[in-house]
This record gives sequence, structure tokens and C-alpha cells, in this order.
Amino acid sequence: MRLLSQILPASLLAAAGAQDVHATANSSQPQTQSNSTGFRLQHGFETVLVQPYGYDGFRVRAWPFRPPNGNEISFLYDPPVEGPENGVAHGMDYDFTTNGSQPVAVRNGNTLVETYSSTGDNVTNVRLAFYRVENNGSKTLLTNEYAPMKALNPRYYSYSHNVGYEFEATFSFSTTPDEQIYGTGTNGEDHMVNKKGQIMDLINFNTHIPTPVFMSNKGYGFIWNSAAQGRMEFGQLRNRYTTESSTLVDYVIVGALEGDYDGLQRKLSAATGRAPEPPAWSLGYLHSKLRYENQTEFIQLAQKFHDLQIPVSMLVIDYQSWAHQGDWGLDPALWPNVSYMAERVKDLTGAEIMASLWPSVEDKSVNYAAMQSEGLLSATRSGPGVTDSWNGSYIRNVDSTNPRARDFLWSTLKRNYYDHGIKNFWIDQADGGNLGEAYQNNGQSAYIESIPYPFVDALYHAGTQASVGKLYPWAHQQAIEEGLRNATGTKQGEPCDYLSLSRSGYIGSQRFCSMIWSGDISSTWQTLSSQVSSGLSAAATGWGWWTLDIGGFSADPFVWWSGNIDEEPYRHLYVRWQQWAVFLPFFRNHGTRACNTQSAFTCDNEPWSYGDENTPIITDYIKLRYQLAPYLKAIFSKFSETGRMIMRPLYMDFGMTDSNINQWTSTNANVTTQQYMFGPRLLVAPVTEANVTDWTVYLPNTGAANATKPWTYWWTNQTYAGGQSVTVPAPLEHIPVFHLGARNDIMDGSVF
Ligand SMILES: *[C@@H]1O[C@H](CO)[C@@H](O)[C@H](O)[C@H]1NC(C)=O
Ligand SMILES: *[C@@H]1O[C@H](CO)[C@@H](O)[C@H](O)[C@H]1NC(C)=O
Ligand SMILES: *[C@@H]1O[C@H](CO)[C@@H](O)[C@H](O)[C@H]1NC(C)=O
Ligand SMILES: *[C@@H]1O[C@H](CO)[C@@H](O)[C@H](O)[C@H]1NC(C)=O
Ligand SMILES: *[C@@H]1O[C@H](CO)[C@@H](O)[C@H](O)[C@H]1NC(C)=O
Ligand SMILES: *[C@@H]1O[C@H](CO)[C@@H](O)[C@H](O)[C@H]1NC(C)=O
Ligand SMILES: *[C@@H]1O[C@H](CO)[C@@H](O)[C@H](O)[C@H]1NC(C)=O
Ligand SMILES: *[C@@H]1O[C@H](CO)[C@@H](O)[C@H](O)[C@H]1NC(C)=O
Ligand SMILES: *[C@@H]1O[C@H](CO)[C@@H](O)[C@H](O)[C@H]1NC(C)=O
Ligand SMILES: *[C@@H]1O[C@H](CO)[C@@H](O)[C@H](O)[C@H]1NC(C)=O
Ligand SMILES: *[C@@H]1O[C@H](CO)[C@@H](O)[C@H](O)[C@H]1NC(C)=O
Ligand SMILES: *[C@@H]1O[C@H](CO)[C@@H](O)[C@H](O)[C@H]1NC(C)=O
Repeated sequence: MRLLSQILPASLLAAAGAQDVHATANSSQPQTQSNSTGFRLQHGFETVLVQPYGYDGFRVRAWPFRPPNGNEISFLYDPPVEGPENGVAHGMDYDFTTNGSQPVAVRNGNTLVETYSSTGDNVTNVRLAFYRVENNGSKTLLTNEYAPMKALNPRYYSYSHNVGYEFEATFSFSTTPDEQIYGTGTNGEDHMVNKKGQIMDLINFNTHIPTPVFMSNKGYGFIWNSAAQGRMEFGQLRNRYTTESSTLVDYVIVGALEGDYDGLQRKLSAATGRAPEPPAWSLGYLHSKLRYENQTEFIQLAQKFHDLQIPVSMLVIDYQSWAHQGDWGLDPALWPNVSYMAERVKDLTGAEIMASLWPSVEDKSVNYAAMQSEGLLSATRSGPGVTDSWNGSYIRNVDSTNPRARDFLWSTLKRNYYDHGIKNFWIDQADGGNLGEAYQNNGQSAYIESIPYPFVDALYHAGTQASVGKLYPWAHQQAIEEGLRNATGTKQGEPCDYLSLSRSGYIGSQRFCSMIWSGDISSTWQTLSSQVSSGLSAAATGWGWWTLDIGGFSADPFVWWSGNIDEEPYRHLYVRWQQWAVFLPFFRNHGTRACNTQSAFTCDNEPWSYGDENTPIITDYIKLRYQLAPYLKAIFSKFSETGRMIMRPLYMDFGMTDSNINQWTSTNANVTTQQYMFGPRLLVAPVTEANVTDWTVYLPNTGAANATKPWTYWWTNQTYAGGQSVTVPAPLEHIPVFHLGARNDIMDGSVF
């Protein structure tokens, strides 16, 4: 599939009244073809294969001794979904070999790769360097293999704790102290949009989905295409990627003009996959709590939404709704007539239903024996073993890396849920290894559950946890995707009818009908604040379909009011959080709440649960979300077409026109971690502190020559010039949001 349609990246500036089209105007326009299908460098025992890949990109694969076996897991499309017609490699193609005795170079569009020798003899220590070819023909170094004299080889292989001919590899690339790194998945509450200086383990945990895809402010994007656990390190002089156990090193670099982040996303997503269009219903209000306990309660919930005339698009059934872990069906004692329930909910509210599934299978499950005998459960290196325990039962996880296990999982879900009207699935705890927590749970009470040896022991159809562990959650998204596509008779890439929701994901997860949420975050102001950069990092990794638990998932045990719906400070936090989430890709309320007066199995979390004075505010924001549907649809469509990010850190749109944002000084760091553009027209600056009645917002310089006051405050219609901080009224019922261009265009979705 080749999509050569040109996008209209100047729209934002046009909305701001721009006269001159900025350099990024041609940003995403595909560039020219390459002058080779690649070369193979034989370098002693090592082979390095370098191929042009997509527009302006190169794919590099390297291995010591034996060539890859062809079964390596890859998250890349080959060829990419978009790229030049000719001069790109497929498979392992190349058209010349070198031993490094003469420097070689290949150009693909505006990116150039060259070999050079760090010792001057052209044969030993042959390195790769990547350049951007500027419009005037000069070369700008993007990065090269980092090889100071007599130091560890930048392509370093070792064989410490691996099996067979798998090896550990650490590859090092040069950087400079001022490089900025955007993306890398989500990494807990690090509160960073720029990951410079970070060291991140490529191991999944609840709230951590480290993923080696990023954009550099130097004008390149990078993908470390490995399913293995490992590390990413972004130092002052060296960036380093480690894969713990592999038979192949595989990475991609794509170049773009400085500041052209849309171009980088377009090229990265051509490699890793474009998102489909979400179902229209899913852009509404998605309601959840831990947990509605039974069918009666669930129908009553729908009835209440109906009676109060509060729109809702999805209602969610959380965990422990099954009789045993791994049944993948609702417990008939509590949910006796699922089809009837789904129909009632639909009649009352129009809402879809989503149900939780966990990967865990306990031996009392109706599916355990069949899965065990068919080899569909993950095992351990020490034997069949167990991988974790939960709620008093030892469990093994479904091995979703096995296609037959994916089919088994889906066919069970289809029989028990889908065929009864529950067609959306929540993939919880499937982060891989065990149940996704940092410490292995011994199945006992909380205070002895800390056994700090997460993950190492798990074994799958596709390999060891070390070599393929990062595939595990992705394979769950794949299982639901394949199942839903089969059931709805649609193909991957086509618009989605239904969705999954996943706590984890990996390179290219955006290709599935699947939202990623930020995991079990705390109900505090600090967490609310840190979630902004988490969402922006998810976006820069390619995951546009991001969401979080409005109000946080669970109470911070050290904050007395945290998560308590009867306490004013939490109600206040909840309202701020809920109004912010209107301006996130998905608008999803969830959590486990505390309360002073408990009326159900767990405390309430409905729009009407936060005090009579707050219900109208909460309800108005739900209605606003529905009013924004055309805008949401437009920004999701553009994301689907070209990878154009939905949540947009300010550097993307204003890095070239506003030196405050470009320079990224410590004093304006919060401008980029606490504010963002939501699509091309809305600047969102959530209130992240208690009790404030006004809020200071930095309005970027749009670079628009003829617009003196491009920014309009949503609540007053007062207009402001860019390039300044302004303090605006922000009473509890108003989130600071500014818009560019006419409000009507936004409400109509006429924004591109
Ligand atoms: C600014 O100039 C552009 C291009 O000439 C024009 O389309 C737009 O209407 C102008 N905006 C204002 C606010 O004058
Ligand atoms: C953008 O592309 C068009 C058509 O290819 C060209 O005429 C124009 O000069 C380019 N603009 C810039 C700023 O490069
Ligand atoms: C490398 O290849 C060149 C020809 O391309 C050859 O002349 C040279 O001898 C080779 N060097 C080694 C060390 O094999
Ligand atoms: C490709 O183009 C680059 C830059 O123009 C040049 O240095 C290199 O020799 C060319 N390579 C081949 C294989 O033609
Ligand atoms: C390395 O390659 C360059 C460019 O081809 C050449 O000028 C130089 O003599 C070579 N050096 C050695 C030691 O072969
Ligand atoms: C060529 O363009 C680059 C990028 O705009 C600039 O940094 C460089 O100074 C230019 N070189 C010349 C010789 O104009
Ligand atoms: C479910 O409820 C519907 C509607 O009341 C009824 O027709 C059907 O028989 C029930 N099914 C079961 C299995 O109870
Ligand atoms: C989907 O359908 C295809 C073709 O019938 C089948 O091979 C595959 O196993 C199915 N996958 C799932 C998850 O049901
Ligand atoms: C269903 O849940 C409600 C609310 O927690 C509870 O009052 C009721 O007893 C439950 N019914 C059954 C049959 O468990
Ligand atoms: C940035 O925001 C955080 C959280 O609100 C705050 O703790 C920190 O002091 C702020 N930093 C600056 C430089 O304003
Ligand atoms: C917010 O106001 C309430 C009520 O006046 C007060 O109890 C609370 O301490 C204030 N919170 C902060 C963080 O100032
Ligand atoms: C601001 O303008 C919009 C139309 O663009 C209008 O609907 C809204 O009522 C105005 N708000 C105020 C406070 O005037």
C-alpha cells in the first residue's frame, strides 16, 4: 500500500493567520528515491546489512557469526506502508558488499549513511554515520556509532547468560548534551517529555511501558526493533540500546528537516503501522469503576444514566466478574443473562459494554486442563511451574505469543461475551512475565509479597522472557484484533467497530483497534501533573490512542483524602481531572474509590458521586465531549492517515517559531510538560493544583505574521498575542483551554 497523498501541515499556521508558509510546510512531503538497495559489510566475524527503508530512512541489521534464522520477531512493515516505489530493499536484499577498505555511502531521500573507520585504516573498526542532506547540499550529522579511541566497540556482542546462539548486544551512538529525546513509551511518573539523561529498563511493569521508539530534536527518528528485554540509555555523549538476548540486532533511523516532527511521525508510523479509525461511539464518555459486581447492579447503572440523561458510550465490567481466573467468561451466579443485560444497557443508554480479561489461568479454571494439554500456557525455565499467584491461587499465564493460544483465547471470549453482546475487551495485567507488578506476588498477604525477581523465569512459545518478553502484551492486543476482525468481517487497518483497552503495548501497537491506558496511577495532584508528560511521551512513541483513569486509579495511602469521594479535596481533584480528560484522545473514567458511606460492593465513581455542586460541572464536561465529536473525528482521521499526533507537545508546532520553546531552558521546562496542543487548534493547560481560581498559561509564538492575537480563551473569548505568559480566570468549572482560529471550525471539525 502506497499513500502518496500530501497532507496539509500549514493548517495550524493558516488558522493563526500566517502569511508566510513556514519551512515545515513541506515537511511531510515524501522525498526522492535511494541510489542503492543497500550494502552488506563483512567485518571479521560480524556482518552488518544496511538498507534504505521507506522515505529518508535506513534499516540496519547486524549479527555475529551465524546469520539470523528468519524467525526473528519484528514490529516493522517490510516494506513500510509508505515509501518510494523503487530503490528500497525487501527482506535481506542488498546490491553490493564491502569489507570497509573503501568508505561507502548510500543516500535515501535526504538521509545519507556513510561508513568510516575510527582508526583511519578503513578496515578495522568500520563505523556507520547518518547525515541529513540539507536543501543547500551540505551534510548535517544526525548520529553516528559512538567510538572513542580504544573504547568498547559501539556494536558490542557478548554471551553471558544466553541460550543457544542468542547473544546480548549493546549498540552505542553519539549524542550531544543538547539533544532532546521524545517518546520511548511511558515511564511511570517521570514527569519528563525530554528523556535526555534517562536510563530505562526495557521491562514492562504496571504504569511502565518503556518502548524504544523516539524522535530527536536533531531531526531523526529511531526504532530499536527488538522483542527482547534490555535497556535504553540517553547520556551526555552516548545513547545506548541493549538487547538482553537475541539472534539479530535490528534498528531503523529516519531523517527529516529540523523541526519536522510530523514528518518524523509519518515515517516512523510507516514503519511501525498506522492506526485505524476508532468507532465513532468510542469518542464519547467511557465509564468504569472497580467494580460493578453483578447484572442487577449493572442494569441499574444504565438506568441511572438514562434517568439523569447523562450521555455514556461504554460501561465496563472489571475483574473478578469470573468464577475463576482464566474462564474468560462472566460468573453465571452473578451475571445470569448476559444477552439480556447487554440489550437492556443498549436500550437504556445506547452504550457498548467492555469486559476485563486477565491473562492468568488458575488450575480450577474450566480452561486449565485443555490449555495445559494443548501447550497453550506459558511455562518457566525450571519446568512447567507457575508464573505468579493472585487472590490465593497460583496461576500460569496464557501464552499469547502462540497463535493457537490467541485463537483459544479469542474463541472463548467470543463464545462467552461477544456472542452475547459484550464486544469490547480490557486486557489487564498482561504486561508479561508475571502479572505485571514490579515484585512477584507469592500469593500471600501484601506484606510478604515482595520477592524482587520479576519475570526472569517465564518461557513462551516464542522464546524466553529475556528474548521476547516485550512481545507479550502486544500479542494480547493482536489476539483481540484478529478475533474482532474475524468476527466483524473487517481487515486490519479498516475502521474499527469495537476496541480493546490495554495496560501495555509495544512498537506499533497503534495498528490495532486498541487503546493504551497509563495503568494504576494514584489519586493525587502530582500524578495528575505527571500524566501530561506521560501522554505526550505515548503520543511521540506513536500511540495516539492513549487514555488514563480519570481521578487516578487508587488512593495514595499517605494522603488522607486521596480517592475518597466524600472528601472535598478529592472531589476537587476529581473535577479538575475529569475536565482535563475531555481533551485527551479517549475520555475514560475509572478507579477504585474510598468513601465514608458505602452503598455498594465498592464505593461510587459515577458522574453524580462527587457532590451535588459538582454534578452539573461534571455533566457539562461530558456534554462538551460529545459536542467536540467532529473535531475529535478529524484529528483521529488525520492520525490514521499520516500518523499526525493528536496530543502534541509544544515543540512540535512552535519549536521553530518560539525560541522559548526551542531553547528548552529549565525555567520553561513546565511549559512543555504541563501544556500541549490537542489537535491543531486547542491549547490545553490542565490545572494541577488545589484551590486555584486563576492559572498562568504560556501562549506560544505561532510565527503568524499578520495575526497579532491568535489565541482565544475558550471561556471568555478574549484574544491574546503569542510569545507570552498570561494569567486567566480558572474557577473550578473552567479548564484553561485556548483556541486558534474560529470556534465554529473547531466545532465543525473543519480544521485541516
Ligand atoms: C492572514 O493572512 C492570511 C494569508 O494571507 C489570510 O488568509 C488570513 O485571513 C489573514 N488573517 C488575518 C487575521 O488577517
Ligand atoms: C514546498 O513544495 C512546493 C511544491 O513542491 C514548492 O513549490 C515550494 O517551494 C516548497 N516550499 C518550501 C518552503 O520548501
Ligand atoms: C577488501 O576488499 C577489497 C576489494 O573491494 C580488496 O582489495 C581487499 O583486499 C579486501 N581487504 C581484505 C582485508 O580482505
Ligand atoms: C549515493 O549517493 C551518495 C550521495 O550523493 C554518494 O556519496 C554515494 O556514492 C552514492 N552511492 C551509490 C551506491 O551510488
Ligand atoms: C582509506 O580510504 C580513503 C578513501 O578512499 C583513502 O584515501 C585512504 O588511502 C584509505 N586508507 C587506507 C589506510 O587504506
Ligand atoms: C546549508 O543549510 C544548513 C541548514 O539550513 C545550514 O546550517 C548551513 O549553514 C547551510 N550551508 C551553507 C553553506 O549555506
Ligand atoms: C434472558 O432473558 C431474556 C429476556 O428476559 C429471556 O427471553 C431469556 O430466556 C433469558 N435467557 C436465559 C438463559 O435466562
Ligand atoms: C481468524 O480467522 C483466520 C482465518 O479464518 C484464522 O486463521 C485465525 O485463526 C482466526 N483468528 C482468531 C484469533 O480467531
Ligand atoms: C448485586 O450488587 C448489589 C450492589 O453491590 C448488591 O446490593 C446486591 O446484593 C448484589 N446482588 C447479588 C445477587 O449479588
Ligand atoms: C514544574 O511543575 C512541577 C509540578 O507542578 C513543580 O513541582 C515544579 O516546581 C515546576 N518547575 C518549574 C521550573 O516551574
Ligand atoms: C484547599 O482549600 C481547603 C478548604 O479551604 C483547605 O482545607 C485545603 O487545605 C486547601 N488545599 C491546599 C492544597 O491549599
Ligand atoms: C464565545 O464565542 C462563541 C462562538 O465563537 C460563543 O458560542 C460563546 O458564547 C462566546 N462566549 C462568551 C463568553 O462570549
